[in-house]
Amino acid sequence: AVASQYSDPIRIAVIGGTGLGSLAGFTHVATIDVKTPWGSPSAPINVLHHPSPTTGKATPIAFLSRHGTHHQIAPHEVPNRANIAALRSLGVRTIIAFSAVGSLQEEIKPRDFVVPDQIIDRTKGVRPFTFFEGGMVGHVGFGDPFDEEVAKVVRKCGQSLEGDGVRLHERGVVVCMEGPQFSTRAESNLYRSWGGSVINMSALPEAKLAKEAEVAYQMICMSTDYDCWHQDGNDVTVEMVMGNMKANAENAKRFVAAVLDELSKEEYAELVLAKHLEGQMKFAGAVT
Ligand code: ADE
Repeated sequence: AVASQYSDPIRIAVIGGTGLGSLAGFTHVATIDVKTPWGSPSAPINVLHHPSPTTGKATPIAFLSRHGTHHQIAPHEVPNRANIAALRSLGVRTIIAFSAVGSLQEEIKPRDFVVPDQIIDRTKGVRPFTFFEGGMVGHVGFGDPFDEEVAKVVRKCGQSLEGDGVRLHERGVVVCMEGPQFSTRAESNLYRSWGGSVINMSALPEAKLAKEAEVAYQMICMSTDYDCWHQDGNDVTVEMVMGNMKANAENAKRFVAAVLDELSKEEYAELVLAKHLEGQMKFAGAVT
């Protein structure tokens, strides 16, 4: 039987996206139902034990399915505040977020991986996007929406898998759109002209809330389609996204597992605590 409680602090989490619902090679030790002031997360949080290849010592990893256990939660319905608050309440300070994306650039081919470093917000304000409201005023810098220190580790792991089925783009701009409908061709071309590399429906407000929670957050994107701008005339469909995700799921899992292997090493014990983010969130006022 799998425990419903887990008392050791967990520092590292994976938010799995479309097509990344589980991680092979990890021992499932607990399933935790977390309640937060912002409701329940997308799914119960699975605690996985990950034995170090060198020392055999197990590092706990929290795994959360962004779209729910049965992929029943649409991108605009994801309870992002509950997800981030639930993970942080377990002790999480570093999140590796996975996402299927459309490619806005010829050289980012379907099934290529991108480690993005910037975001353009094209959500429409329908998603709750901050922990600070109702009399509590706070601000946090968002110039670098992802965590560059974690990104370095992710890129190193991606590089080590290159030539072994993984094609990697080390930087990129994610356009995060509202959905659930895909973009118009005019929008797709506009995003290309803005310098967008890839497009998804999930980077925001997840990345904003992680920043407010002073959690180091890095997304790994896997391209599944050329959206609708490409001359080949094959506009994005759900089947295309799911098909490419499924076809390349082994590589996605190997990539994420390699990152977890690396982050579990003693040399990253400080980094995954995200001390470098402490104090970034500043209060400007509060109802007293
Ligand atoms: N996720 C995967 N492909 C996408 C696309 N073309 N647009 C938005 N989100 C996506």
